[in-house]
Amino acid sequence: MARVAVVTGGTRGIGEAISVALKNAGYKVAANYAGNEERAKGFTQRTGIAAYKWDVASFEECVAGIKKVEAELGPVDVIVNNAGITRDATMRKMNRQNWDEVMDTNLGGCFNMCKAAWEGMLARGFGRIVNIGSINGQAGQYGQVNYAAAKSGIHGFTKALSQEGASKGITVTAIAPGYIDTDMVAAVPPEVLAKIVAKIPVGRLGKAEEIARGVLFLVADEGGFITGSTMSINGGQHMY
Ligand code: CAA
Repeated sequence: MARVAVVTGGTRGIGEAISVALKNAGYKVAANYAGNEERAKGFTQRTGIAAYKWDVASFEECVAGIKKVEAELGPVDVIVNNAGITRDATMRKMNRQNWDEVMDTNLGGCFNMCKAAWEGMLARGFGRIVNIGSINGQAGQYGQVNYAAAKSGIHGFTKALSQEGASKGITVTAIAPGYIDTDMVAAVPPEVLAKIVAKIPVGRLGKAEEIARGVLFLVADEGGFITGSTMSINGGQHMY
């Protein structure tokens, strides 16, 4: 039986590439999205992957979302916590709402999704959870105290939860992407981005598919001994 995978923020950017790679590898995929109906519709038409709308920042919506996916596709074996937003601003300009939105989505979303699926994974003795962190959670970034704190939190979350899943057949890992060619990175002011790219030893932005490749490796049934670890995919920009 094909394993069922849920990818949050799975209809755009890195998430879209992950959803497609999982489908091509034989998984039954549910791509979650929060708001962009048009993009989600286009995504489903192009890929044939079902899109499910809920906000990962809402615990109740995550519980209901997992239930719906399980009713339609089957028990959830794989969760890729990819949904993430930025509200970049220097400390002087960042407000409390900028902080809360990023923490609630990027880090709170990981808790909500894992909590909603955890009992089922425990009962079946199998689970693969991959959390998408960031180079900016490892190294920090100017104008991103909220995002860096949330992404850094993801790495601690991963190490802690992996210890609870280890003897139960559930692995919990993270990927820390560097700067990938997506809408999120395209929103960085061009002169700032040029300086960042100049510091990437590989000499270019990463591709979303290059992150998806790492996810496939980590979620494989054969990956049972890989847990608690972070895979950095960043073109050599930060060695951690
Ligand atoms: N290091 C040092 N100084 C910096 C800097 C940096 N990285 N970035 C900006 N500054 C300086 C500027 O040179 C400027 O200095 P002066 O006032 O002396 O001229 C000052 O900070 C203010 O810069 P801005 O004019 O850009 O100020 P702003 O308030 O309009 O914007 C900012 C500030 C929001 C931080 C903006 O520079 C920005 O968006 N930077 C990009 C942040 C970034 O890299 N985000 C990553 C998004 S992609 C992502 O998050 C995906 C992932 O996981 C990798």
